Amino acid sequence: MATKKKGGRKSVVPVDGSWSVAGKTAASKVAPAKGKLGVMVVGMGAVATTMISGVEAVRRGLAKPIGSLTQMGTIRLGKRTDNNSPLIKDFVPLADLKDLVFTGWDIFEDNVYEAASHAQVLKSETLKQLKPFLQKIKPMPAVFDSYYVKRLHGTNVKKGKNKLDLAEQLRADIRAFKKTVDRVVMIWCGSTEIFMKPQAVHQSIAAFEKGLEKSDIGIAPSQIYAYAALKEGVPFVNGAPNLTVDIAALVELSKKNEAPICGKDFKTGQTLMKTVLAPALKARMLGVHGWFSTNILGNRDGEVLDEPMSFKTKEESKLGSLEYIFQPEMYPDLYKDLYHKIRINYYPPRGDEKEAWDNIDIFGWLGYPMTRFWRRRSRWICCCSWTWPSALPS
Ligand SMILES: NC(=O)c1ccc[n+]([C@@H]2O[C@H](COP(=O)([O-])OP(=O)(O)OC[C@H]3O[C@@H](n4cnc5c(N)ncnc54)[C@H](O)[C@@H]3O)[C@@H](O)[C@H]2O)c1
Repeated sequence: MATKKKGGRKSVVPVDGSWSVAGKTAASKVAPAKGKLGVMVVGMGAVATTMISGVEAVRRGLAKPIGSLTQMGTIRLGKRTDNNSPLIKDFVPLADLKDLVFTGWDIFEDNVYEAASHAQVLKSETLKQLKPFLQKIKPMPAVFDSYYVKRLHGTNVKKGKNKLDLAEQLRADIRAFKKTVDRVVMIWCGSTEIFMKPQAVHQSIAAFEKGLEKSDIGIAPSQIYAYAALKEGVPFVNGAPNLTVDIAALVELSKKNEAPICGKDFKTGQTLMKTVLAPALKARMLGVHGWFSTNILGNRDGEVLDEPMSFKTKEESKLGSLEYIFQPEMYPDLYKDLYHKIRINYYPPRGDEKEAWDNIDIFGWLGYPMTRFWRRRSRWICCCSWTWPSALPS
């Protein structure tokens, strides 16, 4: 373990996967992040192409990794007064950005440059600087069925005699990629699938594999990717609100093959603001009568979410976050009657310049009502206005 000064901070650098906390050294169970880390991205749309372009821009020194916890965040060790807060990336054995290698699948044949240009999240000036790199990343044919994402129809799609065959084809893709890198992770950046609940075919690995063979309708494409990843010992992250790995069979497979699973929607936009505001209200024991969230967006994600069954998947995920934070069963006086309404409207003129409005009807001292409006525009520009009842001092 080496300790060095960095910008006035003491920085703890793990060596060979051993971590040191407050002078004690413990062998980490996590293997050191050596060599190339292959990132297999399912769905090369707005999120995926922004991530890949961003990583490359940072690697070339064109931009800073603003918003990245692993790259900019620190972790405090010991007491505040110890002044020992190394960067997370120096403390935890994480892959360096320069060691990330990207590949993936999509139902459209566009390379990452074309897909990023279509998504219109990043400006063309930025993308042009990265064009030679982005053009080289071309999506492999996807496992897709428009029954699960009704608004999309692409041609870059695998054919197979059943879902097990499709899973085998994905496993072959993973094995081929593994030969070119040292470790692999998979991340679902694909569209939101229709709303699904756990059912019999999801209850065990055996039932799931039988279901794959019979092409059971209860197994969605995202679950076929997750199955393929876990079978190959590859960790799987879910960036959509889909059911995907929240089923007994894939949890069992994850444990059996020691391949971690995580994620449930990226929660980077409106839900991020909710998960910040809700704890603040709760910390002050302020009650909430109603929370009305409305969104307009005109990108492909918006088009998919315009379909009622995909919208329901998103809605359930967004609804759950407030319920989880407020704990209405523990604070019935404050949150039992909360009316939570979510609207997502596809509005093509807006493109990726999403806009979200939240109206929050809260109540405070003596149950007097107060109202908050929260508006989020152009992805990250926020403003809010506060209205206090005239009967109470502000
Ligand atoms: N954009 C955001 O800020 C944001 C925030 C939180 C969550 N999300 C969620 O992340 C996911 C991706 O969002 P996005 O904005 O990048 O959407 P997007 O529509 O731009 O990209 C999704 C891509 O997935 C592809 N796809 C769909 N099914 C596939 C399959 N079975 N295999 C391979 N590719 C497939 C589509 O062709 C498309 O290119 C969505 O579920 C979205 O709800 C997005």
